Amino acid sequence: MKVKWGIIGAGGIADRRTIPGMKLSEKAELVAVMEVNMELAEKLRAKYSAKRAYDNVDDLLKDPEVEAVYIASPVVYHKEQAIKAARAKKHILIEKPVALTSKEAEEVAAVCKEEGVKIAVGLMMRYHSYHRKMKEIIASGKLGNIVSCRAQFTCWYPDIPGAWRQKKSTSGGGALMDMGVHCIDLIQYVTGSKAKKVVAFNATKTFKYEVEDSSSVLFETDNGAFVYVDSNFNIPDAASKSKFEIYGTKGSMVAIGTLSQVEEGDLEVLLSDDTLEYDAQQNRIHVAPVKIDVEFGNMYTKEIDSFCDSILYNKPIEVPVEDAIQVQKVIEAAYKSSENQIFVNL
Ligand SMILES: NC(=O)c1ccc[n+]([C@@H]2O[C@H](COP(=O)([O-])OP(=O)(O)OC[C@H]3O[C@@H](n4cnc5c(N)ncnc54)[C@H](O)[C@@H]3O)[C@@H](O)[C@H]2O)c1
Repeated sequence: MKVKWGIIGAGGIADRRTIPGMKLSEKAELVAVMEVNMELAEKLRAKYSAKRAYDNVDDLLKDPEVEAVYIASPVVYHKEQAIKAARAKKHILIEKPVALTSKEAEEVAAVCKEEGVKIAVGLMMRYHSYHRKMKEIIASGKLGNIVSCRAQFTCWYPDIPGAWRQKKSTSGGGALMDMGVHCIDLIQYVTGSKAKKVVAFNATKTFKYEVEDSSSVLFETDNGAFVYVDSNFNIPDAASKSKFEIYGTKGSMVAIGTLSQVEEGDLEVLLSDDTLEYDAQQNRIHVAPVKIDVEFGNMYTKEIDSFCDSILYNKPIEVPVEDAIQVQKVIEAAYKSSENQIFVNL
């Protein structure tokens, strides 16, 4: 059995990653694509052998064969399109952030509930094999109590006239909203804890656009760890490290290059024995890295497979909209903190 899909906004990340990932899924069938003009829609239809192309959302939603939609349009359109899709009884995989604000995202979630359709969010980094492994190791207790975490996600994103990401009214925010969203979600996901107190710096330092190109967020989780998330639009891609680090009372895990659209990177796990005593020399050489074997796949295929399983077999949704809304509230707290130079409690 396969879920029949329609794509809303097929020409961006959908074309770059998600549709190619969907085509590898044995649980999904691409039926229709929608883009802002017919020429582009038809080009994408032909590229991915979809049955039908549309140049507006209403027509796609009237397609009786479409059971689920993937919404990958600019964020400003998410709320309206998701509500229309829910009213048309289509299940929804929606890109991050769910909407411009957590309040709008809550409206989307409420309509999905009312209409009895399922909704999942495109925080696909949860499907990276190393991130799954990190979650498993933390849950096993091998790292002890988690005391410190850090995640960074950066790119080079200069001024581009008309770019929807560079205006708050069309994106909801800058580097933090666009990239930091993954870091915050991942840290909470792998540690199984939530942010409860936030302080942040957000600023536009390098470019001229109104959203932040630099963001540093510090938060404390409900199990007591301090977390640092940095998101930048002003670090060259070639210089990016995208480090994801977790430190506990019994060891550490450092992933490098795993925050990516491709399942790749390295993970180093260092575990101490249980008989630690104070070492004035602070000797580190006795700790050998634990080798972690994983098989890399395609995070977008896993994301589609997972949501198809939820639709077809009622399996739990792996990236529930409630989680994404909570992440957006953390981001909003970070904006408030930075604007008012205060700590914000959640
Ligand atoms: N999870 C990920 O890996 C990932 C990566 C990049 C972007 N995203 C998210 O995907 C969404 C789109 O980002 P993007 O980078 O693809 O942007 P983009 O600008 O590259 O592509 C957006 C596409 O939507 C189309 N579009 C414009 N107006 C539309 C409308 N009213 N209805 C439908 N389609 C419309 C555009 O023609 C374009 O093809 C955002 O929410 C973004 O945060 C997710």
